[in-house]
Amino acid sequence: MIGKPLLEIKDLSVTYWGRSLLGFGGKPFVAVKDANLSIRAGETLGLVGESGSGKSSIANTVLGLVPASSGSMRFGDHDLVAMKTRYPSEVRNQIQAVFQDPYSSLNPSMTVEEIVTEPLRVHTGMSKARRRERAVELLKLVSLSEEHLSRHPHQFSGGQRQRIAIASALALQPKLIVLDEPVSALDVSTQNQIINLLYERRDALGIAYLLIAHDLALVHHISDRIAVMYLGHIVEEGPSDRVYKNPAHPYTRALLEAVPLLDPERQRARRASRKLQPAQDMQRIADVGCPYKNRCPFVMPRCQTEMPPAYPVDGGGVANCFLLAPEVEQSAKHTREPERIAS
Ligand SMILES: Nc1ncnc2c1ncn2[C@@H]1O[C@H](COP(=O)(O)OP(=O)(O)OP(=O)(O)O)[C@@H](O)[C@H]1O
Ligand SMILES: [Mg+2]
Repeated sequence: MIGKPLLEIKDLSVTYWGRSLLGFGGKPFVAVKDANLSIRAGETLGLVGESGSGKSSIANTVLGLVPASSGSMRFGDHDLVAMKTRYPSEVRNQIQAVFQDPYSSLNPSMTVEEIVTEPLRVHTGMSKARRRERAVELLKLVSLSEEHLSRHPHQFSGGQRQRIAIASALALQPKLIVLDEPVSALDVSTQNQIINLLYERRDALGIAYLLIAHDLALVHHISDRIAVMYLGHIVEEGPSDRVYKNPAHPYTRALLEAVPLLDPERQRARRASRKLQPAQDMQRIADVGCPYKNRCPFVMPRCQTEMPPAYPVDGGGVANCFLLAPEVEQSAKHTREPERIAS
């Protein structure tokens, strides 16, 4: 990797305390374990994984909404972990967020002008007239116009609301926007429009994104790199095209196969053989061995007791899987075809 990363996360763990979850009453619950990620200026990192894998926990920790329990997070020259959840405004301004639900994330009593200019009012000494001008510029950036300024959120569709949220996130010219499932609540054609909009804005403004999604296929075009999470662990990371076209971790392959199929016959067959059973794995089984060991079609004895380290993958990036260990013979890899592919 050339140059210094804008955001560098090392061995980050996030632990929640004192909530009763599936019988874990009062015990610590490790939502993220030893995650490593980095994003350079202007780069998009797609963070994917099924529900409960810990994506939002990472996002919220970067945003300073949830404290890290261990590890380090650097943003430029700032030590985010040391700041706990009290980021000074110079840092808060540079890291903005867009969340999934465009219905609850916008204050219904405010006008679009107030929503979009709120960050400017709070964090800059800009005059009201100048803020209004800036609001018009920002709305244009998201393909809305001046006439929308005086309207309220309920007068817009879901996709338009997400445009408003993006305009507000752009107001302070941040270096990083954390997008936590920004299109998951939208219909498919609106999802594509918003992804394209994000793509254009990123290239024009040089912003970096941490883009969270369930669907790898949806975000791989816009992402430079992709990280895949499973049960609190990042199990694979690498250049977007490589991860998408040549996934190295068995979980990444399962995730790609989980993309909806148009052929109902194939869809039925796949459902019958599906390996993804989130509820079963919601409990973080004793923290030994590979996190994917209970669902992996390639599981080996050592996966039960040893945590796979990050092995380099041909084409770039790393995957935490013993199948990539140099000592695992090439032939063994080929004979270990997962039974589900045949079914
Ligand atoms: N405040 C909290 N207290 C206790 N446990 C929590 C808290 N927030 C999240 N969790 C748990 O941590 C795990 C990871 O949650 P997180 O929201 O980070 O997952 P996610 O990958 O964003 O899932 P989704 O795709 O559903 O948004 C889950 O098992 C969740 O129940
Ligand atoms: Mg989430």
